[in-house]
Amino acid sequence: MCGIVGYAGTREALPLLMGGLRRLEYRGYDSAGVALQNAGVLEVRRAEGKLDNLATVVQKEPAAGRTGIGHTRWATHGRPTEANAHPHVDCGGGTAVIHNGIIENFEELKGPLLAAGHTFRSDTDTEVVVHLLEDELKKGRSLEEAALAVVPRLEGAAALAFVSARDPGKIVAARIANAGGVIVGYGDGENFLASDVPALLEHTRTVSYVEPGELVVVTPGEVRFLSKTGERIAKERETITWDAIAAAKAGFKHFMLKEIHEQPRAISDTLLGRVDRASGRVVFDRDLKLDEAGARALGRITFVACGTASHAALVGKYLIERLARIPCDVEIASEYRYRNPVVTPGQLVIAVTQSGETVDTLAAMEEGRKQGARLLSLVNVVGSQASRMADDVIYLHAGPEIAVASTKAYTAMVVDLYLLAIHLAQRRGTVTPAESSRLLAEVFHLPTLMDAVLREEAKVRALAYHYHRASDFIFLGRGVNYPTALEGALKLKELSYSHAEGTAAGEMKHGINALIDQSMPVVAIVPRDSNYKKMLSNIQEVRARAGIVIALADDDDQEIADRADEVIRIPHTNELLTPALAVVPLQLLAYHAADRRGNDVDQPRNLAKSVTVE
Ligand code: AGP
Repeated sequence: MCGIVGYAGTREALPLLMGGLRRLEYRGYDSAGVALQNAGVLEVRRAEGKLDNLATVVQKEPAAGRTGIGHTRWATHGRPTEANAHPHVDCGGGTAVIHNGIIENFEELKGPLLAAGHTFRSDTDTEVVVHLLEDELKKGRSLEEAALAVVPRLEGAAALAFVSARDPGKIVAARIANAGGVIVGYGDGENFLASDVPALLEHTRTVSYVEPGELVVVTPGEVRFLSKTGERIAKERETITWDAIAAAKAGFKHFMLKEIHEQPRAISDTLLGRVDRASGRVVFDRDLKLDEAGARALGRITFVACGTASHAALVGKYLIERLARIPCDVEIASEYRYRNPVVTPGQLVIAVTQSGETVDTLAAMEEGRKQGARLLSLVNVVGSQASRMADDVIYLHAGPEIAVASTKAYTAMVVDLYLLAIHLAQRRGTVTPAESSRLLAEVFHLPTLMDAVLREEAKVRALAYHYHRASDFIFLGRGVNYPTALEGALKLKELSYSHAEGTAAGEMKHGINALIDQSMPVVAIVPRDSNYKKMLSNIQEVRARAGIVIALADDDDQEIADRADEVIRIPHTNELLTPALAVVPLQLLAYHAADRRGNDVDQPRNLAKSVTVE
């Protein structure tokens, strides 16, 4: 969480920093601030709350300077107040720091600084860094020399950037472990820094990534990468191909709505080039180096993921077990790391992550690597840490996802996992060629089916408006749509702030039935699949207890209308693909309920897009 930006060049930095922060606001919106270095002094502006508040501050009191840093905060240590907003400055106000992540040993470091007479003005873990720098700079060191002395003393995971009036025209940034990215963007006589690619796209597409343990010194004319011991590092420059326009709202009220509607296109992009027409085989081109022998030797797959990505992983478990007959587990990444997991020979760890920067997922990957597992990342953001850490990468090709609530990345994950299951099944000989061609033909039909679902938006919106005030919801699913129930509930919770529980329908009688009464809407995912009859029985049980049944059913299902209070229709498709289709109306339901409540749909309270703290 938290977004950081930096600029060193010949133009006024303030509008560039504000523009970059605007693109990163999804990473945190508890406060924002900038520090510009101007004629031997540092001008700092900060404001509590959203970036608009900072925009008002800088309009009233502009800050000048051609080198500067900016920050948008997701609070970890210290309340979301102006005093805790970044940048934090040293006692003299001449040096500033911005930070994403957590400094775990900050209390230990703070004691001696207080004893030495430093004045702290915030409750953050971050502020200790700038006081440590102050001491080093007073010894006559350059900003990078000071950073090289301070950074090794910090424990935890952090991305940091510093400017100082004592060493003008320069930004120094550093990364400690995996706490969100730092990317350098190269310009002509100017250079940029940002936590994420969208903040750079307007200015440059040529970038380099700062790896954990590295520092970078950025001036208008030069970018120097250093190891933590100060040795110069040669860096590759990469070109980003994303289109900045794709990251704008394109006429939709919110990014989330745009991203929901982009799903047919995103899925077409995900599918592009994935099937070799001559052989009928799923190919992951240069991304996947796991060959036939490797696929046959796989003994177990462990998925590591968080939130929505973990629901996609759960779908992946069902698909791979069903088609490729490889035992799979889904591990919540934040748990996996701390319980000394057993990794056996031939085990593959698959990280599923939109951002590729979720710190718990990265830590779980590290744990898998330490225990000897092969690593595969299913990731959306090209060049992200998860893609760089893995032995193999499958990119989602869903395009930039800006709304905090994940939608198109989720369906792209499900589709890529469907393809991976077929790929592994083909290599292991657990599907016949006829069966795999049928499965593949059906997935290529998915974008058209999604279009049909999206055309029914008005009906889902009406339902959302009708039920948007309900304080509790239950989502029921079975088999491959149990994860759909979990995902539908999560979307509603994070956007509308209603309490929602996703559950396996068979579990109802083991406790959840006690919650049902005439005020409880129960969303039942009930396509005509192998669990259809069982789901009908579960719906009956809900109705027998006066619950309100909202059924998500196939468009040709006549039986369901008599058994439910409301019906949302989806086109019939192959059972293994229904998770990618059935989730779309649930995304719309959550979106419209939240919008009707007047909630901030793209930036729900207390959340952030990239979760780069543990
Ligand atoms: C999705 O709507 C959530 N905001 C969240 O659960 C998210 O999926 C999770 O934080 C994982 O993110 P990642 O895919 O970028 O790793």
